[in-house]
Amino acid sequence: MDVVILKDDAAVAAEAAAIVRQLLTQKPAAVLGLASGNTPLATYRRLIQDCKQGLISFRDVTTFNLDEYIGLGAEDPQSYRHFMQRELFEHIDIDPGSTFLPECGVGEDPLAIGPAYEALIRSRGGIDLQILGIGQNGHIGFNEPASSLRSRTRVKTLTRDTVEANRKYFDDPLKQPRTAITMGIGSIMEARQVLLLATGASKAEAVRQAVEGPVAAMCPASMLQMHETVTVLLDREAASRLELHDYFEWVAEQKRLLLDSRADA
Ligand code: PGA
Repeated sequence: MDVVILKDDAAVAAEAAAIVRQLLTQKPAAVLGLASGNTPLATYRRLIQDCKQGLISFRDVTTFNLDEYIGLGAEDPQSYRHFMQRELFEHIDIDPGSTFLPECGVGEDPLAIGPAYEALIRSRGGIDLQILGIGQNGHIGFNEPASSLRSRTRVKTLTRDTVEANRKYFDDPLKQPRTAITMGIGSIMEARQVLLLATGASKAEAVRQAVEGPVAAMCPASMLQMHETVTVLLDREAASRLELHDYFEWVAEQKRLLLDSRADA
């Protein structure tokens, strides 16, 4: 894992956007895996800016989101489809027909959505770069603790903690869904590159367990230790419980020196 500790949320967003920019420059028809939630918002704002300035284009990009609630339609402001439209898609030059979430429409069988979503991802060549947040309980997507580490896209019941953490977004608690369709941990592991973002002290313990703890279903994000190409971008607060904190800063310093010496050569 490449663990990078940055000053603050803005620095995390700048770095994350730079990684996306680099991918889109190399591969304009890239397939991006996207996340909803508070954490990637600043990154999306950077990408919108980059797109408006003509630095990048999403014209040929396809996106697959990690998850969607069951029971909220696209027009519901709390649905992740609505969130993605509002926070990213409406502001960039992406073809709306190339943006996908594991949505379960009225009358559709929720159990059939997962396999169809996976087939669609495969038909687009698989995900080049997956952006992830992390829950306070270590979840990625809605893969809650004790999810199978090889799970595929499926229906998942949220933990009471997750429902509680997201309560602030719902005026009427009775309308808050308890179930969702989420890409599985096994599905996420197939992305060619993974970018995990975490900011704020509330994520520090989950980050410690994901990066330094054992690979365990109780911390789904810990499975990323088994992925070949993961970058973990943290602000100081999210990194504050890492035992190897100083080491990760030392690694960054050594990398900088190496790059500088190559630039000089
Ligand atoms: P957050 O959610 O970005 O809103 O903190 C992350 C998550 O629960 O995966």
